[in-house]
Amino acid sequence: MLEIRQVNIDDRNAVIQLWHDCNLVVPWNDPQKDFQRKLDDGADLFLVGELDGCIVASVMGGYEGHRGWANYLAISPDHQHRGFAKSMMAELENQLKALGCPKINLLVRNTNIDVIEFYQSLGYTVDASVSLGKRLIPDN
Ligand SMILES: CC(C)(COP(=O)(O)OP(=O)(O)OC[C@H]1O[C@@H](n2cnc3c(N)ncnc32)[C@H](O)[C@@H]1OP(=O)(O)O)[C@@H](O)C(=O)NCCC(=O)NCCS
Repeated sequence: MLEIRQVNIDDRNAVIQLWHDCNLVVPWNDPQKDFQRKLDDGADLFLVGELDGCIVASVMGGYEGHRGWANYLAISPDHQHRGFAKSMMAELENQLKALGCPKINLLVRNTNIDVIEFYQSLGYTVDASVSLGKRLIPDN
């Protein structure tokens, strides 16, 4: 049974290892800084899933008063295809709804067809919009 709870500072190494194991760490994002920035900003929607005391799942949720967001959804490769990602997203969606958040958005690289299909299986649809970004603080 996956136990879903809010992240805390002691989870740092396990969560960052999970992100590495799931190939979510990219050269332009320092995972230590990403973890710390989120904790500094408020970690209430940053969730981890534990199995027998080990962290096997994460999702870094957020809400800025208009849209909810999900980043760093990760399930340990040894524990995929057991419905854990579905449970993590359902918990995040419930917490967002409780805050009055009307819609959740997330970004997936358009080459990542498997993950797009995974989100579609949860009821997500591809929005007709283009994602624009501007780096404000380089990590490296
Ligand atoms: C994508 C990921 C989070 C899915 O985790 P998971 O725990 O294996 O997914 P679940 O078992 O909860 O699957 C939920 C549903 O999605 C479907 N699904 C899962 N993986 C899928 C895939 N690769 N393609 C299509 N559908 C998929 C399942 O059929 C399941 O539906 P069902 O239970 O009704 O059959 C996991 O593979 C992962 O961590 N990948 C690496 C990190 C990553 O890419 N994260 C997303 C960043 S945007």
